[in-house]
Amino acid sequence: MKNRVRKLAAIGLSAVMMLSLAACTSGENASSNSSGGSETKKETEAGTGKIGVAMPTKDLQRWNQDGENMKKQLEEAGYEVDLQYASDDVQTQVSQIENMISGGCDALVIAPIDGDSLGTPLKAAEEEGVSVISYDRLIKNSTAISYYATFDNYTVGQKQGEYIVEALDLKNAAGPFNFEIFTGSPDDNNVNFFFGGAMDVLQEYIDSGKLVVQSGQKTKEETATEGWSTEKAQSRMDAILASNYTDKDLDVVLCSNDSTALGVENSLMANYSGKWPIITGQDCDKPNVKNLVAGKQSMSIFKDTRGLAEQTVKMVDAIMSGKEAETNDNESYDNGTGVIPSYLCTPVVVTIDNYKEMLIDSGYYTESDLQ
Ligand code: BGC
Repeated sequence: MKNRVRKLAAIGLSAVMMLSLAACTSGENASSNSSGGSETKKETEAGTGKIGVAMPTKDLQRWNQDGENMKKQLEEAGYEVDLQYASDDVQTQVSQIENMISGGCDALVIAPIDGDSLGTPLKAAEEEGVSVISYDRLIKNSTAISYYATFDNYTVGQKQGEYIVEALDLKNAAGPFNFEIFTGSPDDNNVNFFFGGAMDVLQEYIDSGKLVVQSGQKTKEETATEGWSTEKAQSRMDAILASNYTDKDLDVVLCSNDSTALGVENSLMANYSGKWPIITGQDCDKPNVKNLVAGKQSMSIFKDTRGLAEQTVKMVDAIMSGKEAETNDNESYDNGTGVIPSYLCTPVVVTIDNYKEMLIDSGYYTESDLQ
């Protein structure tokens, strides 16, 4: 039933995709979609019931913000909330989700650690009629997922790539420029979009020889960072610097997010004395914004988790009242069981020129957060 609804939604609403860049909170151009709820789905009414929120880890700043925003906004909407963080341990997350279901949660919002590892608890969710929203990262190969709320992950990668093209003036400059790549965890579906979006912009410059990857590590697999670990990125950068950059400058590093960028920056600070490279990132984590202000990171992508939480609460309200939730992308995210109706929030490039406006004036951080 749910699959059929998803497929119809995907066909009927694909035209609306063109409008997917609508800001997260505007909703003006968004379409509606069926929640796929069946008779057996737990439904009460909007603002009533208990919602389980499963976040991957407290170690990375953004997930703390995601969790806090979700809890606050769900409580403001009237829900009871069971918020859990899983220390990036898959088995912990599985147990937490099982406990949420047995503890009477009416719906679940899950940011998976490993998109492929939640089959068993989600089967239980389906059996109990508990609806599931996949949050930020897509949960793969499960028919339990009603909706996906995330940022436009392809655009994140594309904007990182475009930043590099402009910063080095790749269209006009002769180059060559030395270039290295650090992407994220192989078990995170978002990596396909971050890496894919960036490479769709940058590949032509690698092919033409303007960007030279001295390490030779160019594929998604070769440039992956397991668990998005800062330490793993740092030690890979240590090795790359030692083998390739003792007598050369490194001009640019594509980092898919801020935790990998931080590892690269730490490594450069310890082991490198050449010209400081252009470095990309994503999340606007506090240490990275500090590095941006200090000239050690060139850009980050701001993903305002308040907007993502707002959109997710709207999905919860729709599910709980048996209505249709607003979506704006019904073709990009197939989780292996069909396209998941999605709402993509808009990511924004942050540099030294606009970080105050985007991060401080918007109330996301205070001045003292960044000191
Ligand atoms: C998120 C990024 C985050 C990364 C590491 C990704 O799935 O979309 O914002 O930096 O995970 O936690």
